[in-house]
Amino acid sequence: MGEVEFAEVAAGEYRVSIDLGDGRTSTVLVGDGVRHRLGAVVPERARRAAVVTQPTIGVTVDSGLEQRTFELGDGEEHKHLGTVGSLCESFAEWGLTRADCVVGVGGGLVTDVAGFAAAVYHRGLDVVHVATTLLAQIDAAVGGKTGVNLPQGKNLVGAYWQPRAVLCDTETLRTLPEREWRCGLGELAKYHWLGGGRLDDLPLAARVARCVQIKAEVVAQDEREAGRRALLNYGHTLGHALEIAGGHGLRHGEAVAVGLVFAAELAAALGRVDADVVAEHRRVVDGYGLPTTVPPGLDGDALVELMGRDKKVLEGGLTFVLDGPDGLEVVTDVDPSLVRRTLEVVS
Ligand code: GLY
Repeated sequence: MGEVEFAEVAAGEYRVSIDLGDGRTSTVLVGDGVRHRLGAVVPERARRAAVVTQPTIGVTVDSGLEQRTFELGDGEEHKHLGTVGSLCESFAEWGLTRADCVVGVGGGLVTDVAGFAAAVYHRGLDVVHVATTLLAQIDAAVGGKTGVNLPQGKNLVGAYWQPRAVLCDTETLRTLPEREWRCGLGELAKYHWLGGGRLDDLPLAARVARCVQIKAEVVAQDEREAGRRALLNYGHTLGHALEIAGGHGLRHGEAVAVGLVFAAELAAALGRVDADVVAEHRRVVDGYGLPTTVPPGLDGDALVELMGRDKKVLEGGLTFVLDGPDGLEVVTDVDPSLVRRTLEVVS
């Protein structure tokens, strides 16, 4: 089983090293200005770096190699197989080889698409991410899940492909648009119940680094989500349903925030936790200025139906990650009428 090393390498700068077994390692650097370390983390043998980004990211990087920039469109509608195909064709036209590398610079959309293209181009070449959003730094860019959407659902095609390194430059977070910031806050809130404790007391870089460390420890134990990795989806069952039902009117983090409060209420309704635990969920989510209730106008029955289609569902029953006496656990076959009633509590 893999191991994780955590170190503060300089004041306010952190390194998380993930040993993934089979000689594979992934290193995450967190701190102000760490994007300038790119030249030190690209593979030594690489001659070229294909930088994949979006026009709105506005972060330039220097890999120290011959590099060319490939831009993706803005918006979830660009996250599809056609985009990966075009990207791979552009790599081939430029003559990118297996010895070279891909550098994803941006948020979760960029790191998911660039990571997937790196996984399949020439059957796999090294990828390094410069994560520029809170969501990408504490979740999407770390852990090796890559992929794109199908018309039938989100992230239905992809591959596990571990980044060689991830640079989480906290300087880029200071200019992040408010809604993009909120998109990451729901994930940040989630880590409070994954062993993060009072994360709100930490300075930004330390907080990001702690979330990365928690995620890295889960991924090192269960890279392919045979068990424990599913816990990283805490708050996501209702969260995903809200995103779909609300036509993405709610940002991911906002939807997860409501999902966290709902999960606490559901755990209480099942007798797994007491009222104090529910109150703590509400305090943390509210403390980040995130919503705690389902937006008006969404149909409860439709939400229950959408939750039944969640990727975690293995045998048809409603499945949730819920808090309990032993911490978070995957709970299967939850009674749909209890889920429906609990939705009323958070409406
Ligand atoms: N975002 C959940 C995971 O990486 O497993």
